Amino acid sequence: MPDSTHAPRAVRHSQTTLTELMIPAYANFGGKIHGGTLLSLMDKVAYACAAKHAGEYCVTVSVDGVNFRQPVEVGELVSLMGSVNYVGRTSLVVGIKVIAENVKTGVVKHTNTSYFTMVAKNEAGEPTEVPPLLLETPDDARRFLEAMKRKELRAAYSQHFDNARTAMLLQENMAALAGERCVVGF
Ligand SMILES: CC(C)(COP(=O)(O)OP(=O)(O)OC[C@H]1O[C@@H](n2cnc3c(N)ncnc32)[C@H](O)[C@@H]1OP(=O)(O)O)[C@@H](O)C(=O)NCCC(=O)NCCS
Repeated sequence: MPDSTHAPRAVRHSQTTLTELMIPAYANFGGKIHGGTLLSLMDKVAYACAAKHAGEYCVTVSVDGVNFRQPVEVGELVSLMGSVNYVGRTSLVVGIKVIAENVKTGVVKHTNTSYFTMVAKNEAGEPTEVPPLLLETPDDARRFLEAMKRKELRAAYSQHFDNARTAMLLQENMAALAGERCVVGF
């Protein structure tokens, strides 16, 4: 059992859905919705889920898996479904599925699923412990396990990249730029 002073909270306790109409003010010069608008909405949902689970103010620490697969159009209804997937000691991972619906045709497209890591903070601004997560369904358990794997792989990638960067000597690697779409100007 987790060593915690908090009672576990169910995933459904903090599940949050935000639906917003995509108005022309959100569009870029190409007439599609700005990626930044969607990111801002995702951050709000992540905050709502995390703060509800933690019962504390939370901050965004990192974001994984932001790949916009299809453009979102003006006039579509975007729904963002957020759910706490994983909790550590002071951090939480909120999974957010984003769908966009054309209200005239009824066509619904899945634009992306992203994972926000949030940290709960106390009054002094220090990371503070969050309640354990009560996994009531096999899907809850699968998402928790997937988040553990993502965390493990991210740490491994980070370590691998740090090692590679430390070992990378500029002069020895310049040849790798040949054939790339860049011009060396020094
Ligand atoms: C995130 C932050 C609280 C970490 O502070 P810290 O003193 O390093 O605290 P800790 O090392 O105890 O880490 C706290 C938790 O954050 C997690 N964490 C820290 N950096 C992380 C990262 N890059 N990715 C994912 N999780 C991270 C730790 O794993 C830990 O989780 P756990 O308690 O569940 O094990 C601090 O860096 C911060 O306040 N950052 C600014 C966040 C912010 O203001 N965001 C808004 C956007 S401007």
